This record gives sequence, C-alpha cells and structure tokens, in this order.
Amino acid sequence: MKYHIVTYGCQMNLHESEKIAGVLKETGYTEPSSLEEADIIVFNTCCIRENAENHAFGNIGALKKLKREKKGLLIAVGGCMVQEAGKAKLLKDKFPFIDILFGTHNLNELRALIERKKAQKKSVISLLEERGETEDGVTPVRTSYPNAWVNITYGCNNFCTYCIVPYVRGRERSRRAEDILGEVQALVSEGYKEITLLGQNVDSYRGEDGTTFPELLDRVASIEGKFRVRFMTSHPKDFTEELVAVMKKHDKICKHLHLPVQSGNDRILKLMNRRYTREKYLSDLALLRREIPDCEVTTDLIVAFPTETEEEFEDTLSLVEEADLSSAFTFIYSPRTGTKAAEMEGRIDEDVAKDRITRLIALVNAKTREKSAKYVGRTVEILCEDFDEKKGMYLGRDEYGRMGYFKSDKCRIGEFVDLKITEANGISLYGEEA
Ligand code: SAH
Ligand code: SF4
Ligand code: F3S
Repeated sequence: MKYHIVTYGCQMNLHESEKIAGVLKETGYTEPSSLEEADIIVFNTCCIRENAENHAFGNIGALKKLKREKKGLLIAVGGCMVQEAGKAKLLKDKFPFIDILFGTHNLNELRALIERKKAQKKSVISLLEERGETEDGVTPVRTSYPNAWVNITYGCNNFCTYCIVPYVRGRERSRRAEDILGEVQALVSEGYKEITLLGQNVDSYRGEDGTTFPELLDRVASIEGKFRVRFMTSHPKDFTEELVAVMKKHDKICKHLHLPVQSGNDRILKLMNRRYTREKYLSDLALLRREIPDCEVTTDLIVAFPTETEEEFEDTLSLVEEADLSSAFTFIYSPRTGTKAAEMEGRIDEDVAKDRITRLIALVNAKTREKSAKYVGRTVEILCEDFDEKKGMYLGRDEYGRMGYFKSDKCRIGEFVDLKITEANGISLYGEEA
C-alpha cells in the first residue's frame, strides 16, 4: 500500500509531513508514490496567506475524478487550514469526497482515524483545541537528508496582529531539553550532517528546568561529531547577547541569522504588535556584527499592512539597505479572519500593494546579487545535499545559506566540500573543488 503527501507552508509543516509519513508507515502504507498510484493521499495544509489556501483548495478539488475512478482510495486533509475556525466544515461541504479531516494537534491520531473511516461510510472529522503533550511518539520518515528538522517548541504566544499561527497552532509549548538532545544525538549518530532546530519563536524556548534557548543551543552544538546547527525562527524582541555569544563560541553553528523584521517603520511595527523598534533591530544587528563580522542576516517583510503610507513603506526599503540584509522573503499583507489586523480600517489598494512589493523585490534582489558577487574567489565549505539533473551538477548550501553548485564524477550527497567560487549568479554560487 502506497501513500502520497502534499505539503504546503513552512518548515514546521515539512517536518510534520515526515511525521505523518511515520504514522502511515505504522498503519501499513509502506512506500511513497506518485499521486495517481497512491492508496492514500494526505494534504498537509497552510493558511498563513490567502494564496496558500487557494492552492490547497484547487488541488484538493482536482482529486474528485481520481477518487471516483479509484475504489478504496482514501483522501485525508490535515494541518493549519483545517484547524482554522469553520474551515473543516467548509472543506467537508465543498469536497464531500474527503474521507478524513484532522487538525494540527492530532496527527498521531491519524492511524485510528484511518481505521475508523475504513469501518464507516461517513467521513471522519477530528480536531483538538489544544495539546499539552510535547512528544508525538512517532518516528518520522525523514526526507531531507543530510538535514534533519528537530522541533524545540510548538505553537506561538506572540499574536502579531496579522498572523493566524497562534490560532491554529495553539499556545507555545517547549519540549524537554533532554528529549531534544537525545534526538539530536541519535540523528548525528545516524549520519545526519545538519540539524535545524524549529519553533515559531525559538528564542522564547524554556526547558522544564528553565533552560533558555542560548543554553539549549550551546548544549546541542557541544554534541560530538562533524555537523552543522541551524535554527529558525528568531524574534527580534527576544534577541540577546547570550545568543550571539553562543553563536560565536561554536563553529558548528552556522553564521546565519534569519531575523524577521516585517517592517522598517515604528508606527507599523506597533500596529503589528511586534514589540521592538527599527532602532532596536539595527542596534542588535550592530552588536551581532561586532562579535561575528561575517554573519549573514536574512529577514521576512510584509508590505501594504493596513494604513501603511508610501513614506512608511520607504522606511522598509531604507531598512533593507541600512541593516545590510542578504536576502528576504517578501509578502503582500493578506487579511486572515479572526486576527486583529483583519478588523483594521485602511486596507491598501491592490495596485499600490503590487507596486510596493515589486520595488521591494527589486531592491532585495540587488542586495543579494551584490553580496553574492563578493564570494567570487573565496573558498566556502558547502554541505552537498542534492544533484541537479538539469544543470548536471551537485549542490549544497554554505553556512550562510547560499546555494553552491559544482561538478563531480561521484556522488557527494552528505559530504562537506570546499568550493572555490568562480562565478556568482543571484543567490547561487558556482565553483570548483578546492
Ligand atoms: N514564526 C515565524 C514565522 C511566521 S510565518 C516568525 O514569526 O517569523 C512566516 C512569515 O509570513 C512571517 O514572518 C510574515 O512575514 C509572513 N506572514 C504571516 N502572516 C501574514 C499575513 N497575514 N500576510 C502576509 N504575510 C504574513
Ligand atoms: Fe505569527 Fe508573530 Fe507568532 Fe511569528 S511570532 S508565528 S509572525 S504571531
Ligand atoms: Fe506554517 Fe502555514 Fe501553519 S506557515 S505554521 S503551515 S499556517
């Protein structure tokens, strides 16, 4: 019996799909397959912006024919969109052929839900409000070797006014430090070369014994072996000197900080409930670069938040320059029902929003190119993670997060390779083995 999982959204969801695959395996679905060949298709959805939802709606709708033609095919839909108020019912009404609907707090229940569905005609819906438990009791089927994702926190307490995550992922819960360290140790012994610690806001991690995030990071990076450590996402309001000190102390910790700023204007930051100012963001980065001069910083940016003026948008443009950011994920504000911002007056016209994001993307791309060009002639260590069929080249990221491509006549996936960079093209670097 075969399974196919379609994943939308963030790294958290990618990892959750690995856990869903783990549950499916225990249920007797042993092999991943194409959509057409699968005996069960699982959608792991996202609702962060409207277009994420539209994609899922479109692709679930397209399964109607397959479901009709293939007897015994099960279709399950889970994740953030299902957990959103009223969405499970909407999905069920719109697509009555969905067999199972589950939320963000009960993926470990999926096996029982599948069995229930097999015993009844009616579709099965199961949603939990909250979950105290921080261990899933599931062995994930990992698909991102040589990288492994490791949860440190679940949920979020920040309630940024635009964001749906706290509503669909629940209150913040930290895993026990011992559980995290045990998992990382096992992964390193199995040969994983990069560990990415995951949380909506990693900095607010608090272990059972009061362990802070910098302390946890220090302990993770102290585990023996040759591997890299990454973490995401950090929140500027929780940025500390202790974090910088630990990043500086360990070569294993990548010199890359993803620090979403969202806007460069204080009035907008306040409306977003981000709880820091432009100045605090800039002074934190100054501290970081004093201690670790080559650390690269990337960010997330939202344009056209309700009431944002042209001048306020220009503050975001100038921040990208002033903060010397290497790259950014850029988004047009998308109203999410149930959040505070969705109730705010002063929605920005779509054309204005599109113009702003176009200008922002042009600036961010120029910054990325300018930074990449400086790598030509340097030697960087990349961790080879894949082979690009089209280019006929192996690829992997350096510690700063840039993709490096190179030719090799034997498989190098999972190896650290020193690359002398000969060419830079946008975010990609090309090189030869040094
Ligand atoms: N917890 C992380 C990630 C949140 S989602 C963090 O706080 O950074 C990833 C990004 O999506 C956010 O940083 C934000 O830039 C963007 N985002 C979230 N809600 C959004 C919305 N309603 N409209 C547009 N972008 C949004
Ligand atoms: Fe959303 Fe803010 Fe929490 Fe990030 S920190 S998940 S943007 S509420
Ligand atoms: Fe991630 Fe989307 Fe949920 S960004 S937490 S999958 S709403």
